[in-house]
Amino acid sequence: MHLITLNPWSETDILETVEDSLNIKKYPEKYRHAVGGKSLCLLFQKTSTRTRCAGEIGITQLGGHAHYLDWRTTNFALADLGDEMRVLSAYVDIILARFLKHTEFVEAATAATVPVINGCCDKYHPTQALGDLMTIQEHLGRLEGVKLCFIGVHNNVCNSLIAAGMKVGIEVTVVAPEVNPAAVDKELWDAAARKGLYKVLDTRSINVGSALASVVAESDIVYTDTWVDMEFFTDPTFAEERERRLKRMMPYQLNAELLDGYTGKIMHCLPAHHGYEIAGEVVNDERAIIFEQSENRLHSMKAIILRLLARA
Ligand code: CP
Ligand code: NVA
Repeated sequence: MHLITLNPWSETDILETVEDSLNIKKYPEKYRHAVGGKSLCLLFQKTSTRTRCAGEIGITQLGGHAHYLDWRTTNFALADLGDEMRVLSAYVDIILARFLKHTEFVEAATAATVPVINGCCDKYHPTQALGDLMTIQEHLGRLEGVKLCFIGVHNNVCNSLIAAGMKVGIEVTVVAPEVNPAAVDKELWDAAARKGLYKVLDTRSINVGSALASVVAESDIVYTDTWVDMEFFTDPTFAEERERRLKRMMPYQLNAELLDGYTGKIMHCLPAHHGYEIAGEVVNDERAIIFEQSENRLHSMKAIILRLLARA
């Protein structure tokens, strides 16, 4: 069993992972020796703070060992991906990887003989969504029937929220005038829409301000993420597109005016870009549960590792 996307994970897998995450947070001592010396390899093509720390520190706190590999300093960069994954599988018990392309994950997971966890690619971010469900359960006391509105560029995080939401009954409304080309997943969107758990606000013919205000007013959670994925931030070939997006997306910023009178919670997976998708004051707003979200990545990652190792 891998965690490449949440699509093949059952409702039970997801709900039990959330429950385990909450237990691990409450009783960390009980899990001190839970993995008895097992090793996790982190294989990262992109930068990371939360996912890397959650993996490294998580396995250590479970009694195991972490080994971090920066893709660029390995022979993954010049060899056959399948060969290198087989080699790595012989050294460690589980792999947490962050690849640029989803297609590489599929190839890597096919070759691996140990569980592979997707620590974010261009299409999905499943460990983020599982941590977020834990945070929603913790703060709202329920998942089923929760109304979550994602405002921003439809991306990897948005897809995983839809994939997780459709399994546990969270209604996801997306307000996204832009979709990352790599995040297009019509099969997922259609399946979630058929269940009545995914809606898209058509932004072409609306008054953005008033349409956003009414979506926000009906939501339990307002969620946003960066308008530009991390690998493009400093990419000179993306500079023009980045500027175009920043201008295009400004009316969709989460700020005090948009959230005036809103009584629900505010979420962001981080890293945040203050003054762009979210105003700095909103990051620190008392309705924001953003730092709880990032802390919960650790507890949730431990639950994911335990589940995958138990099924290996
Ligand atoms: N939210 C998240 O995945 O953060 P990192 O990119 O820092 O891991
Ligand atoms: N969607 C953003 C943030 C993920 C943590 C990205 O891929 O860079």
